[in-house]
Parts: sequence; C-alpha cells; structure tokens
Amino acid sequence: MYLTAHEEEMYDGEYGEAIEKSMKILVALGDIYGAEKMVEISSAQISGVSYKTIGDAGLEYLEEFSRDPSARVKVQSSLNPAGIDLEKWQELGFPREFADRQYRIIDAYTRMDVMNTCTCTPYLIGNIPTRGSHIAWSESSAVIYANSILGARTNREGGPSALAAAICGRTPAYGYHLDENRTANILVKVEEPIEGYEYGVLGYHVGKVVEDGVPSFQFHGRPSSDEFKSLGAALASSGAIALYYVEGLTSAIACEFEDKISVDSASLKDSVDELSTTNDKPDLICVGCPHCSLNEIRLLARYLRRQSLSCDFWVCTSHALKAAADRMGYSDIIEESGGVMVSDTCMVVSPIEDLGFEVVGVDSAKAANYIPSMCGVDVVFDDWKTLIEL
Ligand code: F3S
Repeated sequence: MYLTAHEEEMYDGEYGEAIEKSMKILVALGDIYGAEKMVEISSAQISGVSYKTIGDAGLEYLEEFSRDPSARVKVQSSLNPAGIDLEKWQELGFPREFADRQYRIIDAYTRMDVMNTCTCTPYLIGNIPTRGSHIAWSESSAVIYANSILGARTNREGGPSALAAAICGRTPAYGYHLDENRTANILVKVEEPIEGYEYGVLGYHVGKVVEDGVPSFQFHGRPSSDEFKSLGAALASSGAIALYYVEGLTSAIACEFEDKISVDSASLKDSVDELSTTNDKPDLICVGCPHCSLNEIRLLARYLRRQSLSCDFWVCTSHALKAAADRMGYSDIIEESGGVMVSDTCMVVSPIEDLGFEVVGVDSAKAANYIPSMCGVDVVFDDWKTLIEL
C-alpha cells in the first residue's frame, strides 16, 4: 500500500505512540481489503461508547490509549450514544456502577477531543459532511444516511477503526470510497405509496431479501429526511447495506441492475408481523431509533398535548435537540403527559433489561430487530400512535 512521506512518519512512530498504533490499524485494514492508498477524511463518527457493548475490556483500552498525548483527533469527530442519559440516569433508575464506568468511557473520549454528542444522528446536529467528502463513520444507520442522502463516502467502520481514522485524519481507500463500489445493482420498485414508520418496515424487508449490494428505489412520492432515516437504519440492520439511491432524488454514479424486486403491501404486512415477539401490552414505549429529529419531537408533542400516557414512554434524542425541544416547550408537553425526554442513549444500548421492563413497544424496525437479542425482553412493533393506544 502506498503511503505518503507524512503517513510513513506516522506509521514509524515519529508523532507518538497512539498515532503509530492507529496508523498500523489502518494499514492492516487497507492490506486486508486491497487498498492502494489512504485518503484524507473530514469527519469521524465513533461507536463503541456504551459500557453495555464494550465492557471493562473496552473501557480499560480507551483509558490507556487516551492518556497518550498523541491520542487527539485530527478531524471533527462525534460519539455514538452511551449506555445512560448522562444527566437523568438516576431518575431513570440506571445502576450507579454502570453509570460510573460509562462516565469513565466518556471522559476517555473527551480527553481525545471527540465531541461527546452521544447521538446516532450526528448529521442532525452539525457533523454534516459535504457531498463527495471521505469520512470514517461507524454507526450503521448514520453510515447509510451519509453515503445515500448526504453523498459522502464511508465504509461501515468499527469503533476502533473509526477512532484510528480520526487520530490520523486518514482512512484506507477501499469499499464505498471508490466509484466502482457505488454502482446501483438492485432495482427496488415500491408498488404502493407508504409513509412514516412503513419506511422502516420497507428497509427491514429489503435488507433481508437482498442482504447486501446497492439498491435503487422507485417510490410513489418523495420521502422526508426522517423517513430516509428510518429506511436506512432498517436496511443496515437486517442487511449489510451501506448505500442506496432513490430515483429522481439521488443519482447513482452508474446503474448495472443484476436483480429487480417489487414490494407490495402484503410483503410489508408480513414484515410488520415478524417484528413483534409478543401481543402483550408494552410496559415501556420507546421512540427515537435513530434518535428523534426536532420535527419528530414536535409531532409527538402536538399529539400528546392534554393526553395521559398509560405506560412509561421514552423519547430518545441527542442532548442538543433535547435542549431545542426544551426551548420550544415540547419537552414540557411530553413530560406532562407522562413521557420522559431521554438524551445520550437509546432503548438498545442502555441496560433496559436491568430496569424491570418486560415488553417494549417500538416504532423502529431496527430497534425491534435488535431489542430481543441485545436486551433479552419482548418487543411489540407498530407505529407510535397505535402503541400509545394499546
Ligand atoms: Fe441509534 Fe440506538 Fe437505534 S444507537 S440507531 S437509537 S439502536
């Protein structure tokens, strides 16, 4: 793999141990995937934040790595959700020992100058790469949004490789960084108009059917950015998809269709049924997978005004958008109805299984897909209005 003189110096340890380690990770990855060179990146998004997912081994590694003075990010870098709401963890009932360890992880990233935004939707709060820019993002729902809607270029990084890329400002040029891997190869015709959470159902269905590749969708009408957020999250959770196109909205570099599928309401109905593990009433409803936009919070607040919720209800979002929702009065409306605004974490990466909940209602196909295995509790999947009225 070709390295510039500066990259070779990083590799040889001339700028410090953390940079050397990071460059070695990137070169090893590049060698595995046949990269010919590195590309400079403009942004990183780093997963591997929740103590629930990385445990003591991850915590100890990050603490030690972050103490090296050369472990400082070179580009705008933001964090995926943590395992707790960093402010309300006691009120929500998260165990103190878990919270203490979670704080140590956040402190390690903060030392490295990674912005502790703790969200899977960094593109809603200012980490917005421009079209064509190379980036290293690791949250799969954010990766697919960046590739498909923003037109940036990233592979599905793991937490360690995204951090290594952030420290070096480089990533190996393979996969979705190259034109030849961005060709649309599966045409997906959606036969009927769909809306809202149905985009997540569609993503789950298509991800399962095609598994990988680059789909190009034909829709009736124009999905909103929140609908793209649901579609991509689900595509990336049931399949290994990291890029899609939408005819008439985003243009593929090239189309060479090897397959064509059509999706009707019957196949979507089957997926809806498949995503629930029980018919029991939820004792917790969670919305915000991926994290809610301000507009989604606005719609929830409008619906919940003067309503009284009959079970626990979490609205998961970033700390930054919760602050905006507070200012608009949306948080007060949601909390007066019995809901809680939850920042920095979500229903999958927090230890909800330790809080006594047994059945969780979600309107996100990605969350419904992951909660049974990640949290060991039952899940009911439907749109949030139906869940509230169950
Ligand atoms: Fe985000 Fe958690 Fe869903 S990290 S995409 S809300 S599983």
